[in-house]
Amino acid sequence: MNNRELLLETRDLWKIFNETGTTLEILRGVNFKLYAGETVAIMGASGAGKSTFLNLLGALDKPTKGEVLFKGQDIVKLGEKERDNYRSLHLGFIFQFHHLMPEFTAWENVMFPARIQGQSEKQSRESAAELLEIVGLSERLEHLPQELSGGERQRVAVARALMANPDIVLADEPSGNLDEENAEKLHTLFKNLNKQLGQTFLIVTHDKNLANLAHRQVHIKKGLILDSLS
Ligand SMILES: Nc1ncnc2c1ncn2[C@@H]1O[C@H](COP(=O)(O)OP(=O)(O)OP(=O)(O)O)[C@@H](O)[C@H]1O
Ligand SMILES: [Mg+2]
Repeated sequence: MNNRELLLETRDLWKIFNETGTTLEILRGVNFKLYAGETVAIMGASGAGKSTFLNLLGALDKPTKGEVLFKGQDIVKLGEKERDNYRSLHLGFIFQFHHLMPEFTAWENVMFPARIQGQSEKQSRESAAELLEIVGLSERLEHLPQELSGGERQRVAVARALMANPDIVLADEPSGNLDEENAEKLHTLFKNLNKQLGQTFLIVTHDKNLANLAHRQVHIKKGLILDSLS
């Protein structure tokens, strides 16, 4: 992987929560690197700081100390608007719960990120339909989320995450709410997207099968990352 482009890097990343009266040192100087084309699984016990870490990488939260470099630029130092741009131009998010908008169809939900970015209606309709075909939902374009199964909804969320053609997809327990069969379908989809499109994934998961599909597994333990790379 070492000849690949370094997309994300954290340097001495700390997150300390003080809100509850007690001091919680959740991340204690994490150094991490993610290269283009990789699929990396983040593992660790409940409460270890996996979501916290992903939120910092995705500029959804700020670290207590340390740097988050995207292609060499520290996103922590950016203003709110630039952080918004970083998220919408370079990242795709998949959460444990799909967070689809209930009043919009699968097609509209997927189109939404591109419309925000100012793509034309026609162009975003076409790309959204293509992505929904890739995730196996070309027969479900006009369905509302409530008219889809759990696995189908999560695949709509995957298509939506890919819509902005992101450098990195950040996923937080994407198959946590799926039965075994649907989880396996989703994992195969990730694998194929990585192989065929070279899509880079950073996936928090408890699922051994999904972790085994990754090129690299890293473990968050006692506020640090145990990584085979470093
Ligand atoms: N805003 C907050 N204020 C105070 N403590 C917080 C806050 N957010 C998270 N924590 C604490 O930080 C720790 C790490 O939380 P985090 O959500 O990152 O865990 P996780 O590894 O994703 O766990 P899980 O596998 O259960 O999702 C938890 O103990 C949690 O209580
Ligand atoms: Mg979590």
